[in-house]
Amino acid sequence: MPTVKVRMREGKKQAIGKSLKAIVYRLKNNPTQPRRNSGFFVGVVMQDVEMMKLALRLARKGEGKVSLNPMVGAVVMKNGNIVGSGYHQKFGEPHAEINALNQAGKKAKGGILYLNLEPHSFYGKTPPCTDSIIKAGIKEVFCSMLDPNPRVNGKGIKKLMDEGIKVNLGLLADEAKRLNEVYLKYITTGMPFVILKVAQSLDGKIATLTGDSKWITSEDARDYVHRLRDKVDAVLVGSKTILKDNPGLTIHEKRGRNPKRIILTANGFIPPNSRILCDNKDGKTIVVTSKITPFLKGCGAKIWEIEKTKSDQINLRKFLKKAGQQGIASILVEGGQETFTSFLKERLVDKFYYFLSPKITGEGLDTFGDLKIERIKDSLELKDLTLKKFYKDYLLIGYPDWRN
Ligand SMILES: NC(=O)c1ccc[n+]([C@@H]2O[C@H](COP(=O)([O-])OP(=O)(O)OC[C@H]3O[C@@H](n4cnc5c(N)ncnc54)[C@H](OP(=O)(O)O)[C@@H]3O)[C@@H](O)[C@H]2O)c1
Repeated sequence: MPTVKVRMREGKKQAIGKSLKAIVYRLKNNPTQPRRNSGFFVGVVMQDVEMMKLALRLARKGEGKVSLNPMVGAVVMKNGNIVGSGYHQKFGEPHAEINALNQAGKKAKGGILYLNLEPHSFYGKTPPCTDSIIKAGIKEVFCSMLDPNPRVNGKGIKKLMDEGIKVNLGLLADEAKRLNEVYLKYITTGMPFVILKVAQSLDGKIATLTGDSKWITSEDARDYVHRLRDKVDAVLVGSKTILKDNPGLTIHEKRGRNPKRIILTANGFIPPNSRILCDNKDGKTIVVTSKITPFLKGCGAKIWEIEKTKSDQINLRKFLKKAGQQGIASILVEGGQETFTSFLKERLVDKFYYFLSPKITGEGLDTFGDLKIERIKDSLELKDLTLKKFYKDYLLIGYPDWRN
């Protein structure tokens, strides 16, 4: 069994924290298998899996900060020691590989690099990472998946292999795809990843008969929603939610930065004294409409004019295309019923955050309107479910069955 020593400076130890200690413990206590040499994908040892898990955990630290880029983490190993690690911290700043290689310095020569995404091989905001990997003298690379960005898509891996670096592709690929689900949708379709966030009572209502919805869920659950907002590029509501609830759609300062705030109104009206217009110092409010009224022209928000469908609705597909072109890679749709229903009818939802409160309201506003489903076998079914508990409420996270 190989012994694993980890030598790092105090500051770095703190940064990686407990996760690294746990990995070292598991490495020391798990027998490893001999590495098999079998061409493009070699057999992996426990150590490879653990290092890739660490790369994935490091990558997630960039969540909400690297859009429109993917989240990437990197670990450099040499003779059983971690000699460098890093992640892509902010859009426009150095990529994960560079941070890890810089930390490793000369120790990277002859080492193994673990990455959750293929390194890029073109000049963009930063020089090609493949060049730095080659220059550092890395002898082997483990990479979870190819980068589907047409400018990369296999070219990075090929460049490394052409230089005689051994490349192993596919380690923890499912985890890597899940981690970068937003990036993968955006880079392959040009449209944002749409997350539908519902807060409903046990009997399926998002508001009472009077339209009151404050608050269906507990403070803990609402606190979590603020953290979700920090991770997306934009939040979206329908005009009647502005009318009824007057939400600010902002984040408590301590919890992160404000995403863009989008309101849908086919008729071009939102109350002039609404918080979303009055608290728009950061200029992040966008009104999406099919009718630019004189009021909207002077309201201080950005206005996007999107054509209507035959049923007088804003064409949501066209809206999402425009949002993608404007650099929005993820949208959290927060309600209300008409808005949820129109996204769902068009099958434009990629993920659900479904908060279920133990309250019962009786008659009220259903979460969804008519979805034109007549048979149970045609109903939408969520898959890949995760359940979390927030004080009294449950959160079900899942994916619609039309996503593969
Ligand atoms: N519990 C929760 O999770 C939750 C979250 C949010 C809201 N709510 C509650 O839900 C209620 C409001 O829901 P609601 O169903 O009445 O209204 P809503 O969905 O908030 O707003 C509907 C309006 O949004 C615009 N709109 C939505 N989808 C559109 C589309 N595809 N194309 C064009 N315009 C579109 C239209 O605006 P115009 O009429 O201006 O054209 C439509 O009348 C409130 O009582 C609120 O408290 C609950």
